[in-house]
Amino acid sequence: MTKKKYDQCLEVSQDNTKYLELSIKRSKGLLPHMEVAKAFSKLLKNDIKKNTVMLDVGCLSGHFLKTFREKNNRDFFYQGLDPFSLHINAAKNVWKHDKKSNFKVGWAQKIPFNKKKFDVAICSNVFTHIPNILNPIKELIRVTKKKIIIRTPIHNRSYRIQMVFNNKWWKYTSVKPENEFDKKGNPRSFEYYDVHSKDYFSSVIKKYHKRAKISFVKDVFFSKKMINNPKERKNIPTKVINNMQVTDLMIVPNYFVIIKL
Ligand SMILES: C[S@@+](CC[C@H](N)C(=O)[O-])C[C@H]1O[C@@H](n2cnc3c(N)ncnc32)[C@H](O)[C@@H]1O
Repeated sequence: MTKKKYDQCLEVSQDNTKYLELSIKRSKGLLPHMEVAKAFSKLLKNDIKKNTVMLDVGCLSGHFLKTFREKNNRDFFYQGLDPFSLHINAAKNVWKHDKKSNFKVGWAQKIPFNKKKFDVAICSNVFTHIPNILNPIKELIRVTKKKIIIRTPIHNRSYRIQMVFNNKWWKYTSVKPENEFDKKGNPRSFEYYDVHSKDYFSSVIKKYHKRAKISFVKDVFFSKKMINNPKERKNIPTKVINNMQVTDLMIVPNYFVIIKL
């Protein structure tokens, strides 16, 4: 049986040491900064100050912190959040000497912090994997004072996309190829790769914060050379084709959704 929480399959990340290893290497400076982390660093240039308190939802081992400490402010406070203790334990180990960071297990759907605890909250490459974004948006708005930046695929239409796993190519599932879909035709072990329409995404933000100022900034920050870097073998690598980021056979139209509260 595939275990799920909030309709997300746990076997995507729960034991995914390969993806975590890349993040640890980045956190330790053994691999280059991620292109997206550099983009966040630029977008937050004026927001990360000495006394800033930041939340990073879906933090893996805290590789964004490495980028911010080097390119932004050395002293701001960083709180990492991730549902998987595999990730959080690794983060705690990597950052054990960093006095101004903390890591906690928790889900975007139910953020384990009090209201308005953070000046800034970021969430990168997570919303696409969450089938119901209502609570994550509500929760981010609840815990943040000033600004939220979410990086996720946005288009003028929404798409519900599921990548379906089997144990021939995905070692973290026990589902055999012949059992990929159940009797009703639903996938057993999967990860969402949803694309949200600008209109829907904005409407959800407005539902929870009428006066929020929203801007959609297309991710054109990446360098093709770095994304195609063969040294960084991911389970499912992203390539740049015709200036578009492509994961396996999916075009990923990434945007930064900037929400000023
Ligand atoms: C694709 S990685 C992105 C890591 C990093 N933010 C980045 O952009 O490189 C997705 C991360 O989000 C975490 N995650 C998955 N579902 C989540 C949820 N519902 N709430 C918070 N984090 C989640 C995963 O454990 C994983 O660490």
